[in-house]
Amino acid sequence: MEISELVASKVLDVPDFPKPGILFKDLMPLFADGPAFAAAVDAIIAEQGADTFDVVAGMEARGFVIAAAVAYATGKGIVPVRKAGKLPRQTVSATYALEYGEATLEVHADAFLAGERVLVVDDVLATGGTAAATLNLVEQAGGRVSGFSVVLELSFLAGRERLEGRPVHALLTV
Ligand code: PRP
Repeated sequence: MEISELVASKVLDVPDFPKPGILFKDLMPLFADGPAFAAAVDAIIAEQGADTFDVVAGMEARGFVIAAAVAYATGKGIVPVRKAGKLPRQTVSATYALEYGEATLEVHADAFLAGERVLVVDDVLATGGTAAATLNLVEQAGGRVSGFSVVLELSFLAGRERLEGRPVHALLTV
C-alpha cells in the first residue's frame, strides 16, 4: 500500500472540533498502530534523506511524537519547540496569528549549534503559521532549516507558501 493510502486510512475526520465549522484531522489512530507509525516515520526519513539534517525539531504537542521517532531512528537529537512559558532558560520566541488572536512558540536560545541543519517535523501543515514561526525560531537561534516534513498537509490553506522555498514533504496532501 502507498504511504499516502496508509495515512489516509489512519486519519479520522472529527467535525466541529475544537470549534463549530472546523473539521479536525485526528492522527491518533496512526500513532497507535505500530507498523503504520513505523512506516510513516521511515517515509519521512526517506523523503528528506537522513544525511540532510543534524537535528530534528518538533512542535508541541503532536509534533513531539513524530520528531522523537525520526530523531531516534536516525541517531540525531530532538529540540522540542514549545508553547510560551514552558522552557526554563533563556529563550527566543516567535508570535504568529491564529484565526482568533495569536500564539507564541519558543526554543532555548542555545538550542542549535551555529549553522546546524534542522529538520522541522509536525503532524499537520495547515495555514503554515506554526511552521513559519518555527523557521523564524530556528534562524533566531542560529540554526538553518533543511526542510519540513508533515504527515498531513491541508493544501487549500496554502501553508507551504509561507516556508520560503524550503523543501516541504507531506505523506498525504488533501
Ligand atoms: C496543530 C498541528 C500543527 C498546527 C498546524 O497544532 O499539530 O502544529 O496546528 O496549524 P497551522 O499550520 O495552521 O499553524 P495545535 O496548535 O492544535 O497544537 P497541539 O498539537 O498542542 O494540539
